[in-house]
Amino acid sequence: MRNTLLILALAAVSAISCGTEKGKEQIEQETAMNERNNLELDYSDHHSYLKPKEAVVKHLNWKATIDFNQKTLAATATYTIDNIKGVDTIYLDVRNLAINKVNRDDSQKDLDIVVHKKEPFLGDQLAIPITAATKTISINYVANAEGADALQFLNPVQTAGKKHPFLFTQSQAILARTWLPCQDSPGIRFTYEAEVTVPKELMALMSAKNPTEKNESGVYHFTMDQPVPSYLFALAVGDLEYKSLGKNTGVYAEPSVIESAAYEFEDMQDMVDTAETLYGPYQWGVYDVIVLPPSFPFGGMENPRLTFATPTIIAGDKSLTALIAHELAHSWSGNLVTNATWEDIWLNEGFTVYFENRIMEEIFGADFANMLALLSYQDLQDEIKWLNSENRSADTRLRVDLEGRNPDDGLTGIPYDKGFFLMKLMEETVGREEWDNFLKTYFDTFKFKVMTTDSFLDYLDKELLSKNPEWETTIQPNKWIFEEGLPENCPKITSTKFEAVERELTKWTNGGKASAIESSEWVTPQWLHFINLINDTLSQEQMSELDATFGFTQSGNSEIKAAWFEKVIPNNYAGLENAVEEFLIEVGRRKFLTPIYKALLKSEGGLSAAKAIYEKARPNYHAVSSESMDKLLGYK
Ligand code: BES
Ligand code: ZN
Repeated sequence: MRNTLLILALAAVSAISCGTEKGKEQIEQETAMNERNNLELDYSDHHSYLKPKEAVVKHLNWKATIDFNQKTLAATATYTIDNIKGVDTIYLDVRNLAINKVNRDDSQKDLDIVVHKKEPFLGDQLAIPITAATKTISINYVANAEGADALQFLNPVQTAGKKHPFLFTQSQAILARTWLPCQDSPGIRFTYEAEVTVPKELMALMSAKNPTEKNESGVYHFTMDQPVPSYLFALAVGDLEYKSLGKNTGVYAEPSVIESAAYEFEDMQDMVDTAETLYGPYQWGVYDVIVLPPSFPFGGMENPRLTFATPTIIAGDKSLTALIAHELAHSWSGNLVTNATWEDIWLNEGFTVYFENRIMEEIFGADFANMLALLSYQDLQDEIKWLNSENRSADTRLRVDLEGRNPDDGLTGIPYDKGFFLMKLMEETVGREEWDNFLKTYFDTFKFKVMTTDSFLDYLDKELLSKNPEWETTIQPNKWIFEEGLPENCPKITSTKFEAVERELTKWTNGGKASAIESSEWVTPQWLHFINLINDTLSQEQMSELDATFGFTQSGNSEIKAAWFEKVIPNNYAGLENAVEEFLIEVGRRKFLTPIYKALLKSEGGLSAAKAIYEKARPNYHAVSSESMDKLLGYK
């Protein structure tokens, strides 16, 4: 499927565009102008207490020590600030932090800070007195496992190696404030440097320039010279090894996982090169991935220079690496051009799903990308149905209203899949070449800047739609963005590969043998389509015939396994209780947990069965997942 000519061309382009990393000065010059522009944009973020137009943090110097016995992180954060308006107070967001001491460069004594108590999920507003002369402030504080929802301290049994503890963070959307007092709004960017002390047998990594080897002292140094928003501040500590995958790509994992991870991600350099050819230079120097233990609550998280990933994408056959393409794509849509608030998250996720699909098309071919698009379409239909049934139709708009709500509420399939289809509609309407040029210029124009839905629409109109009056009426972007449901002009996808699956399934449903299903050429999306189409009223014999023939329960492919369990439960397929339970205890990825627990809840006697499993599983989950499951199972 691979297009050799194209790959050769890509290699030539990337050899020129990627190489030496940018100098600090160049980055500073490039970003200074953009930051000034950020402050001119008029928007307010319901999820942060800072006043960015008065005084902002520009740089962070962070010194932290990780204590695995106490499960604490003790740190001193020194902030270089810009007191834009010469105000007497700077505001930071904090949640559940024990603040010991606050100091200032232009004053000898400890400062009296005021903590304004606010909403529990938003945390508190920290008010620090400053003067027009203040250059730096510093805060000494402690975060602990209990209060810091971003952190997950893992016991050795929860790791692959079972010998050493592990720690990882997850800051998006508003959890950075649980381990760092910060201006926790995605439009505010700062550079950082850090010194992190960890037990000697472990290595620390951040969303920054990283070590590739352990050192004797357990003290690690980091710099991030490009300004990043707080939600991309990240740390992982564990028994880790590094393996290079190409000129600016590599992978980190526990020793027992590193080889399989390196094999699975063999196409990563190709993905980076392809992405650069599509939408311009990769701006972050290196692109590495760290494979975390299975309790990581997401598939992936696009921390700059170091994507955090679930081990459940290691299937042994590279079939789940669209997730890497997705997190890589965020290096443009999200990390470079950033949603101003969590109400604009479709600008991050919708663009990224589209970009991901384009990378997959280049590397694995149009048929494959098309299947992923069709799965996305089916997810979108299901999601809209479900949101409507929950009286949440308003959340089917791309631009969501999250005032007074947790930004996590906006994290449905809508920004992803509806966002993707709007991008696809624009591509189909204006033509791929025009559309690609538009996107490339968009990323370049707004790099290191913030984007609101309104400013995107202005730009779209000015740079693209105004060129042809028909485009606006064909696309109707306002309808997509501000109205509920799925507009009728949504692109239709067909896939001959999926049609083949449907034919085979029909033959079987009509009494054919499972062994007669012609599936030897099927790839993962086809298997997922097959399982998704199985109905909920099969007999035990039919279920066991499928399982015996295709080995779904034993599958090394977590997506296939999770989709299968979603059918095992409503079909009351006996004997798999333990397999389902084991999966729910080991894996903390919310995308898998939600549908499986939902299926349990719907089944007879399901609530008590779900609760019995959850009681055992909950201690293994990160707060992101346990919060959601607490709600789902009626604990909150
Ligand atoms: N940035 C998101 C994860 C996220 C979003 C965390 C909002 C917290 C708040 C990440 O890029 C993502 O979308 N992950 C998906 C990957 C998938 C769509 C390929 C996931 O984890 O499932
Ligand atoms: Zn994403």
